[in-house]
Amino acid sequence: MKVLVTTGSKYGSTREVGDAIAGVLEESGFEVDVQDACDVLSVTYYDAVVVGSAVYGGLWRRDASELIRDHLVELRRREVYMFSCGMETVVRPGQGLDEADALARDVGARKHQRFPGALDYERLNVGEKAIIRALNPPRGDFRDFAAARGWAGRLATELRAVAAV
Ligand SMILES: Cc1cc2nc3c(=O)[nH]c(=O)nc-3n(C[C@H](O)[C@H](O)[C@H](O)COP(=O)(O)O)c2cc1C
Repeated sequence: MKVLVTTGSKYGSTREVGDAIAGVLEESGFEVDVQDACDVLSVTYYDAVVVGSAVYGGLWRRDASELIRDHLVELRRREVYMFSCGMETVVRPGQGLDEADALARDVGARKHQRFPGALDYERLNVGEKAIIRALNPPRGDFRDFAAARGWAGRLATELRAVAAV
């Protein structure tokens, strides 16, 4: 079974979560390709696609959300799993968590998982720093690679079951 793991990531922390997920799928015997979402030209080669994105201002990174919208028909025919990385504490009061649930519904994703992200204040641009100062979320690396690997392991079990049908 051929699996694509692809991410939309501005500062690289979501990409590394994707790499960890890809590693588990590879160890589980799948043929795995890893690509940034902006580099994906086609998904037709793959049986399953794992799409992840960082969340900014309630939105997925545009390369990841456009990947889903641009390849909706092909993705609906495949096994799709999604994950979001973010600091939910950045969400403004009254703002929905993010657009990922709607994307997951549109594409018929089997699962959408949220993982904690990483926030390196010093690397942010001026506008981002202003938002973070205003909302004052915890700063640091809160990623849980054990959780990401555990999720990938369960995903591997599901994909094996699908492949066996
Ligand atoms: C300006 C800004 C806005 C953010 N908005 C959200 C948000 O709406 N929801 C959320 O869960 N996380 C939000 N985050 C946290 C990022 O999603 C988190 O830092 C993520 O891990 C960054 O991933 P990346 O390194 O792959 O770009 C925001 C971070 C910044 C700097």
